[in-house]
Amino acid sequence: MKKLAIFASGNGSNFEALAAACAEGRIDAEVALCVCDKAGAYVIERAAKYGVEVLVFNPKEYGSKAEYERLVADRMDTLGIDLVCLAGYMRIVGDELLGRYGGKIVNIHPSLLPAFVGAHAIQDAFDYGVKVFGVTIHYVDQTLDGGKIISQVAVPYEGGDVEELEAMIHKAEHRLYVDTVNKLIE
Ligand code: GRF
Repeated sequence: MKKLAIFASGNGSNFEALAAACAEGRIDAEVALCVCDKAGAYVIERAAKYGVEVLVFNPKEYGSKAEYERLVADRMDTLGIDLVCLAGYMRIVGDELLGRYGGKIVNIHPSLLPAFVGAHAIQDAFDYGVKVFGVTIHYVDQTLDGGKIISQVAVPYEGGDVEELEAMIHKAEHRLYVDTVNKLIE
C-alpha cells in the first residue's frame, strides 16, 4: 500500500479529509506521517485521532532550512513515503526536500492559480470582487504557489459573506484533494 506524508502548520482540515478517506478505504493508501512546524497546532490532535505518527519541529531550533528538512526527509526515507501532500504548510520547500522528493510533493491552494498566490488568497480574491473562486492542486517547486498544475475546481460565489465563501472553498478542497491523491497513486 502506498504511503503518504502530510505537512501542515495549523488547523488540518485537509489532513483530516485525507486521513479519513484513507481510513475508510476511499483512498488506497496509508497516512504514515504528519509533519508539523508548529507545536500546539490543531492538526497534531487530528493526527493522534487517526493514530498517525507526528513529526513536530521548531524551525528556529535549527541553523538552516536544510538542517530540519534533512531530518524530515530521513524519516520519510525510513517510512518509505511515496507521496508528500502539503496541506496548509506555511513554508517554502527548500533544496533538501526538493532534491530528495522532487516530483512527489504536491500542494493545495485556495484559488484558481496563477491568480491570488500567497497566504490570504480567499480574502484577496473576495476583496478583488472575483465571482468564480476555486481550488488548485499543483506540484511543488521553489516558487510560492508555483509548479505545474495537476487539478482545479471552480467555486462560483456572488454573495457578500466571506466566511460562507471560505466554508464552500474548504469543502471543495477536501473533495478535490481526495480525488487528486487517488489519481496520483494509481
Ligand atoms: C487551505 O485553505 C489550503 O488550501 C491552504 O491552507 C489552508 C489549510 O487549511 N494551503 P487546513 O489546515 O487544511 O484546514
